Amino acid sequence: MAKLGLEKDIVNEQTLNQTVTRFKERGIKLPTFEELSDPSKISPEITEKLKTVDPMAPDSLNLYRIHWFNDPKTNGFRKLPAYFEIPSEISGVDARIIVMTGAYFPMVECHKVLAAYGCLAPRVITGQFDPTTDKAVWPSTGNYCRGGVAVSRIMDCHGVAILPEEMSEERFKWLKEWTMDSENDIFRTYGCESNVKEIYDKCNELEKDPQNIIFNQFCEFGNTLIHYLCTGMALEKIFETEKDDSPSLRLQAFVSATGSAGTISAGDYLKEKYDGVNTVAVEALECPTLLYNGFGGHNIQGIGDKHIPYVHNAMNTDDVTAVSDKVTDSLNLLFNTGEGKNYLKEVKGISEKTIQDLSLLGLSSICNVAAAIKTAKYYNMGKEDVIMTVATDPAAMYDTEIEKQKKKLFDSKYDRYDAAETFGQHLKGLTVDHFKELSQIDKERIFNLGYYTWVEQQGVEFEDFIARKNQKYWKDLQNYIPVWDRLINDFNEKVKTC
Ligand SMILES: Cc1ncc(COP(=O)(O)O)c(C=O)c1O
Repeated sequence: MAKLGLEKDIVNEQTLNQTVTRFKERGIKLPTFEELSDPSKISPEITEKLKTVDPMAPDSLNLYRIHWFNDPKTNGFRKLPAYFEIPSEISGVDARIIVMTGAYFPMVECHKVLAAYGCLAPRVITGQFDPTTDKAVWPSTGNYCRGGVAVSRIMDCHGVAILPEEMSEERFKWLKEWTMDSENDIFRTYGCESNVKEIYDKCNELEKDPQNIIFNQFCEFGNTLIHYLCTGMALEKIFETEKDDSPSLRLQAFVSATGSAGTISAGDYLKEKYDGVNTVAVEALECPTLLYNGFGGHNIQGIGDKHIPYVHNAMNTDDVTAVSDKVTDSLNLLFNTGEGKNYLKEVKGISEKTIQDLSLLGLSSICNVAAAIKTAKYYNMGKEDVIMTVATDPAAMYDTEIEKQKKKLFDSKYDRYDAAETFGQHLKGLTVDHFKELSQIDKERIFNLGYYTWVEQQGVEFEDFIARKNQKYWKDLQNYIPVWDRLINDFNEKVKTC
C-alpha cells in the first residue's frame, strides 16, 4: 500500500520540475495549510486579485478560497467564519448549539474541497503526482469527488469521480459540468451511501493503470491534517469570540457525522485547546457501524460508510450517537418547503433569520444538529454549555430529494399537519436513545473493527495499523503540516523563478 500521502521529502525530482514548469505557464500558486487556517496571512496582492474572481469559477486563484472565512456578500474574507446558532425554540434545549457554515467554500459550496486540497497538494509538491500524465481519482459518496474534481481542474490536473449511482442528481449535474470528459470521468457505482465496497472495487480496477492515482480519503492523512488545523482553528475562533461576550461559556462538545472521518479530527484540535470537550461521532441509525457494528442503507448522503476509516482517531472519540434518516428527511421537508417554513414562522414564531439559516443545513448537517440536541439532552447541558458542529453542505444540494422524501414519508404531500408532526416527533421528541458514552472497551471495539478493512483487505502492515492506537501517533502526524508548508513555499518560489 502507498504511504497514504505521508511523505516529508521530494519523491521524484523530475516530476516535480515538470509540474513547476507547468504551473508557471499557467500561473498557479498554492496556498499553505497555515494560510488556509488563517486567511489573514494570505498576501494582500492575492486577496486583491481575488476580488475580480468568481468563487464559482474554475480559476486557480480560488485555491485561496478553500477555507471557512469566505464572505458571500463581498467576495472577500471575513474575520470570523460564517456561523449561526440553533435557537432553543428549535432545539428544545438550553445549550448553545453553534453551526459553522460550509456553504461558502468555492466551486462546490461544501467543505469537502478542503479535504481534497489536503490530499492533492502534498502529492504535487513532493513530485508524487504528475499533472502531465496522471489522473487524480476521487472515490466518494458525492462531495469529496466534486471537491477533488474542482481542485484538480484548477490545479490543471485531470480529475476522475467515483460515486454511488443513488447520490443526489445535483451532484451528478455538477460533475457533468466540471469534469474534462464527462463520459469517461464519472463512474457511477452500484447502490447508495453505504455501498463503499463497490467504490473500492472500482478503485482497485482503475488502479491497475499506474497513471490513475487514487486519493482515498478514508486513508489519506492529508484529509485529517487539514481539518485538524483549518476546521479546528476556525471553530476555536468562533468559540473565543462568543466567549469574549459571555466569559462563562464552556465548550463541551464537537459533534461530527462521519464519512471519511476527516472533519471529526477538528475534535482532536479542540480537545487539545480546551479541557473537557467531548468529540461526538454521529452516524445513520440505519447503518450504525461505530455504535453497533451495524450495516445498512440510508439517505444521509455523505456519512456512514459501513467501515472504520483508517484516518479516524477512534481512541480519541468520546461518544457515538445515531440519527435516523427519517429524522433528517423529515426535517429537510420542515426546513425547506413552503408549508414547513410557514408552520415554523406562523405557528412557532421562528424568526425569518433562523428560517434562512436552517436552509444552510444539508442532510448530514441536519443530522449533526439532531445529534447535538441529543448530546445536550444526554449530558443535561445548560445555557453556558456550547456544542459546536458544522454544516458540510447546504439544503440546496438536495432540492431534488424533496419530492422523493414527501413520497417516502408523507404520501407525496406535505401540509401544516405534517409539519407539526415533524416538529413534535423529530425535534421536540428527540431522545437520548442510540447514544453511547464510550468506555475504553468500546473505543477498542471500534478501533479493532478497522483491522478487517485495513489489514486484511487493503494490505496495511499490522504494525502501522496498531500504532494508531496510541495518541502519540496522531500528535507526531501534526509534524507533517509545517513540513508540507515549507515544501509548498519552496514550490511557489520555484514557480516564480523558473
Ligand atoms: C454532505 C457530507 N456530510 C458529511 C460528510 C462527512 O465528512 P467527513 O468525510 O469529513 O467525515 C461528507 C463527506 O463526504 C459529506 O459529503
